[in-house]
Amino acid sequence: MSNWPKHDMSFLGGRRQRRLRRTGWMRNMVRETVLTPHDLIWPLFVIEGHNERTAIRTLPGVERLSVDLVVEAAKAAAAEGIPALALFPNTQDDRRNADGSEAWNPDNLTAQALHAIRDAGVEIGLITDVALDEYSSDGQDGLVRDGEILNDETVEAMVKAALMQARAGADIIAPSDMMDGRVAAIRRALDAEGFDHVAIMAYSAKFASVYYGPFREAVGSGSRLIGDKRTYQLDYANSDEAMREVAQDIAEGADMVMVKPGLPYLDIVQRVSDAFDVPLFAYQVSGEYAMIRFAAQAGAINGEGAMLESLVAFKRAGCDGVLTYFALEAARILNA
Ligand code: PBG
Repeated sequence: MSNWPKHDMSFLGGRRQRRLRRTGWMRNMVRETVLTPHDLIWPLFVIEGHNERTAIRTLPGVERLSVDLVVEAAKAAAAEGIPALALFPNTQDDRRNADGSEAWNPDNLTAQALHAIRDAGVEIGLITDVALDEYSSDGQDGLVRDGEILNDETVEAMVKAALMQARAGADIIAPSDMMDGRVAAIRRALDAEGFDHVAIMAYSAKFASVYYGPFREAVGSGSRLIGDKRTYQLDYANSDEAMREVAQDIAEGADMVMVKPGLPYLDIVQRVSDAFDVPLFAYQVSGEYAMIRFAAQAGAINGEGAMLESLVAFKRAGCDGVLTYFALEAARILNA
């Protein structure tokens, strides 16, 4: 090595970037972004029955849970410092219809889960999804007439669903339907019924994405869906339009906004984070989770490493938190 040419490094002017990376303690000291369990929101799929859990073929490691097991999951999540759960029902076929009226049935699966978690005294935030696909017979988020997704009629249905969820104990209403005007309508209805303490987390920049595939298997909407959701979810080629959606949802009264999917849309996350000062979340959706899981199963990548790297990336881009199927697993690692 002694006759290896020694290059002139004087152009560095004494600044060597690698000095800050030499040791673990130094990397800890200068780290810019920190991920904690408080950053993680855990989506759960609810089914009928007791002590019932069913696997989801396209989401390895995620199960649909009956309400009693959802309560156990809520306790486990709270114990790890996860602040909130996002509940999604898999509604039985015989309860689905074209109106999606099961969405505001005060005894539907979402309501049952809300009551059960509240009755068990678990201290955790409860976020409920407002959209029709989990309840209707045709897998669209809105009401369908002659192949058209009706906006204002859907908003009326969304308001009924949101009110039912608030009455059942939801802390945060999360409209994911992308109809125009739904945030304002839900806010007005909540306030009129005395639910001014119930917050709205708007799925504001929700793109028409193939990454939702495994979720649609999980809630049982995928096989029904005819066509796609491109007349209401955003075109993935657009960024300015996402900014307009976020601005409008905030103007209508959204307390928090969301970008979805997550990793392929970190440019949108960063723009929203730079431009607005409300809490910002991203949804690391089912297809993103599945890609990491299946790649890890195939031995292509280290699954735990990819999980943590992806979650930190959300925070680095400007998220205040992430909805992720990895929440419990990641929180356990972070707390270890
Ligand atoms: C719609 C809804 C979807 C997701 C959350 N809420 C699916 C869709 O819009 O088709 C997807 C979440 C995921 O893929 O993990 N109610």
